[in-house]
Amino acid sequence: MSKKLRIDVIRRCDALIIGAGGAGLRTAVEILSRIPDASVIAVTKVSSPQKSHTTTAQGGFAAVNPEDPYDKPVFHMFDTWKGSDCSADQNVIKKIVETAWEQTLWLDAHGLHFTRNEEGRLSRRTFGGHTLNFGKGPHAFRAVFEADRTGKGIMDTVWGESLKRNVTFINQSIATELIIAGNRCIGAVLLEEPQGKFTAVLAKVTIISTGGFGQVYKITTNCRQNTGDGLALVLQEGLPVMDLEAVQFHPTGIVGPGILASEALRGEGGILLNKDLEPFMERYAPKAKDLAPRDVVSRAIETEIREGRGVINPHFNLPHVWLDIRHLSDYVHDVKLPEVTSFFTRFTGINPKKELCPVRPTVHYQMGGIPTDEFGEAQKNATEIIPGLYAVGEAASASFHGFNRLGTNSLVELFTMGKVVGARAADAIKEIDLPEKAPRDAGEKTFARFSGYLEAKGKENLWDIRTAMRDVMTEKVGVFRNEKDLSDAIEHLMEFHERSRHVSLTHSSLVMNQELIDRWELDNLLMVAMIIAQGARARKESRGAHTREDYPERRDDFNYHTLATMREYGRVEFGKRPIDMSLFKEQGPDAKYFDFIARKY
Ligand code: FUM
Repeated sequence: MSKKLRIDVIRRCDALIIGAGGAGLRTAVEILSRIPDASVIAVTKVSSPQKSHTTTAQGGFAAVNPEDPYDKPVFHMFDTWKGSDCSADQNVIKKIVETAWEQTLWLDAHGLHFTRNEEGRLSRRTFGGHTLNFGKGPHAFRAVFEADRTGKGIMDTVWGESLKRNVTFINQSIATELIIAGNRCIGAVLLEEPQGKFTAVLAKVTIISTGGFGQVYKITTNCRQNTGDGLALVLQEGLPVMDLEAVQFHPTGIVGPGILASEALRGEGGILLNKDLEPFMERYAPKAKDLAPRDVVSRAIETEIREGRGVINPHFNLPHVWLDIRHLSDYVHDVKLPEVTSFFTRFTGINPKKELCPVRPTVHYQMGGIPTDEFGEAQKNATEIIPGLYAVGEAASASFHGFNRLGTNSLVELFTMGKVVGARAADAIKEIDLPEKAPRDAGEKTFARFSGYLEAKGKENLWDIRTAMRDVMTEKVGVFRNEKDLSDAIEHLMEFHERSRHVSLTHSSLVMNQELIDRWELDNLLMVAMIIAQGARARKESRGAHTREDYPERRDDFNYHTLATMREYGRVEFGKRPIDMSLFKEQGPDAKYFDFIARKY
């Protein structure tokens, strides 16, 4: 029997932010710009906020300049709605698109080094699905960027602003449990790894910004830490997650590990080719071609591969297609996209100025997440919120992206919604009192889980289970899905969950015990994987990135968001949240574009 686990430390603050990436820190900065003496704690699982996944974002930040003579915010709203396959929430689309430019100026004023053109104005590039004139015009150039390290620019900016405003950082620590008193969230339990201590942080507001779940899959652009921890936190409380079956596959992962090769490469003129060197996208999206949205391009690449027109990569034994960027200028290679072109050399040994680049779809983004209203307040069902709890960034689903996100819409979402959530949380901080003490049962779920991990006996290896789960999810819950594969995946996940109870850890220390963290992550991943697979099986239609070979059409009877809870492993209960259609219902001059429109590119 291991030592009895207990809360060692109690901390108090106005705002507890779980996850110190771009969304969490933009929220922190907004709270502190409204209440400069607020106490804000930001917790990160990694060694420094600079290691957050936001840092890896390459391509850009979508924002329409109100002075642009051709582009208009309503075109961006339309593209986002159509891109979502008519499943994003229109109140959220409007809110984000209308504040995108103001937030671009905020970033510029706070030191982000946007790339500029010869006249000194912000350069812009185009991404898939961004068009002018409700899809009737050409591609819209509406993404501002810092070369191909826009996410790094955003992190540098918000981290600097957070340091200036005295955010307290707790690094290398995980949030293991929400503290709920009555009906309100009043903080969270943390495991502070360097000390090996459990801490209860009592807070007026708690914000989950833990990022995505890409590590559920074998091939992903996501960082090692993206294990769906925020989703597991709410599921553990019997609260819902939303639309997890909507998994984005980015079309161009560098073959092998799946590292991101930015869509900006195609925005600058890169072309996808099959093994016969045919530019095949024209057959799938005659107008948009290589700049169709990601779900369309990923399906096209998978189809080329399935029908024998892919190339087998000898190093990874994986089929892929080619991305041809040989014809792009040295300026594009060396100045506009230097990092990503260098990744090809570093990870595949080829020279992209002279050779074709091997790419294939890679898991990139979760469109779903913790359901929130348009202010980022976490919901316990389609109509009620959990007071004191917020979610923002990829961990949250408000939902701006519906079932398919357009490139460059994530950075704009995390940033604009960070501001919105910060403002809402600041109002709450002014109104409510700091909780005096933690409820008696705070930490019980954590201790049950962690004692289980520390005391378990058996011969199972947690990394074997994690690898097997990732293989199953990749093979059976991938770009194309069907009833049989999904049912198989669910059965495998049940078995992996059972096996995970027989993992014996080699060390029982709570101090910097990566094996223990891996064990906790395995549970989080298995929970999330189960909801993805069951959500995908229950949604008997194809919509955005969720493609069912056995139900190839979008169906009106699925015009809703999936809410899912899981109180016992494998027993998923589903609910529905309606899709907000306010732009359509307002019956303005452009209302017809916001109906359940057909989706062709
Ligand atoms: O392709 C990219 O640069 C990724 C951008 C995004 O996910 O928004």
